[in-house]
Amino acid sequence: MRTYANIQQLQNALRERRSQGQRIAFVPTMGNLHNGHIDLVRRARQLADVVVVSIFVNPLQFGPREDLDSYPRTLAADKEKLFAEGVQFLFTPEVSDIYPEGMHLHTQVQVPDLSETLCGSSRPGHFNGVTTVVNKLFNIVQPDVAVFGEKDFQQLSIIRKMVRDLCMPVEVEGVATVRDADGLAKSSRNGYLNDQERRLAPLIHETLLSCREAIACGFDNFLQLESHARMQLLQAGFEPDYFAIRDARTLRAVTEETEEIAILAAARLGRTRLIDNVRLSLNPVSDWGMLASP
Ligand code: PAF
Repeated sequence: MRTYANIQQLQNALRERRSQGQRIAFVPTMGNLHNGHIDLVRRARQLADVVVVSIFVNPLQFGPREDLDSYPRTLAADKEKLFAEGVQFLFTPEVSDIYPEGMHLHTQVQVPDLSETLCGSSRPGHFNGVTTVVNKLFNIVQPDVAVFGEKDFQQLSIIRKMVRDLCMPVEVEGVATVRDADGLAKSSRNGYLNDQERRLAPLIHETLLSCREAIACGFDNFLQLESHARMQLLQAGFEPDYFAIRDARTLRAVTEETEEIAILAAARLGRTRLIDNVRLSLNPVSDWGMLASP
């Protein structure tokens, strides 16, 4: 595995591979790699000849009171994991490589509307930071395909829209959420949970599953389902940010045209903000079908 911090050097190495007709898959990450990331890398290996992984904790997507400084940085362990998975290129730029004039003077890419709802309303500017850096990383790596986790379902939807809107020549591949045995979605932030919080954390997934079950059984008062779920989380000791039943394509309210429902939740447990989602495909032949997705 070759590791580059320098943009030019990475581009030279990738140009050589591209000129040999090799297909390039890209997995952007912020490091502290867990099995969820490893699944992304494995999918990338199935899709291309060359896999490029980036590790960059992007300051532009963190709010002023968020965990940029304490975000776990575990480069040596991450490198071992990527090497073991057969990754050929690792890109580890510094903040000054990505934002040479400082991040606030950098051109930004914004996907309106989709970036402002759900996580976007509680983390203003977060998704502009994500789309700006992903756009720049795409321009540096110029991948044929880029792989993202479905755990960050809103992020994935926003990136798909950016790629569509800007006619970017990249396929975007989503990979199912990886969970611990008790259902907690893998996340680098799970490491912030103390023992008691860790025991409680799977409730977020259980609440999503109960809500999906209720919808699949025909219960269609979504406002009631949302407020019941929020109450359950609150009573258990979470500070719910949102619990929302939405159209999986638009992330807006469910309508008669909705083909798939996404149920999305974000809640704080102590100092840890957890997010998760489940989806439900609506069977066109019945009113509310029952094709659950992870
Ligand atoms: O999902 C993440 O880890 C980050 O938001 C990403 C896509 C690497 C951009 O910094």
